[in-house]
Amino acid sequence: MLFSIEPKSRREDLYDFDHELGMLIKFLRGSRLTLVTGLRRTGKTSLMRVALNEAGVDYVYVDVRLSLYANYRDVVELFIGAINDFLRRRSSIVDRIINAFKKR
Ligand SMILES: Nc1ncnc2c1ncn2[C@@H]1O[C@H](COP(=O)(O)OP(=O)(O)OP(=O)(O)O)[C@@H](O)[C@H]1O
Ligand SMILES: [Mg+2]
Repeated sequence: MLFSIEPKSRREDLYDFDHELGMLIKFLRGSRLTLVTGLRRTGKTSLMRVALNEAGVDYVYVDVRLSLYANYRDVVELFIGAINDFLRRRSSIVDRIINAFKKR
């Protein structure tokens, strides 16, 4: 899968980023704000996805690239999609929220 055109999400598909991956995981766990910058198509998204998969932190992934003609509804749908993705990954959080309401 090393040559697929999609950004990578698994460590074994990520080539030669061990140092950066270690640093990013460390920052994701302990830093309030982390920026990943670099030239186009150099692996920023791949690095970030793998780090998020490995860091064991809760995250909501929002890809804010929208079409030039995006409207209010598109922005809302973007965030709804991101939250749904988060809830799918962390179904235990949904259970905890439901249980918290049950106890009231
Ligand atoms: N270190 C890497 N290991 C494996 N594949 C990589 C690596 N770096 C880049 N790629 C591949 O190159 C392409 C671009 O990677 P990616 O989308 O992660 O880069 P990007 O910096 O986020 O790009 P953009 O600037 O367009 O957002 C993808 O096909 C990705 O799989
Ligand atoms: Mg990218």
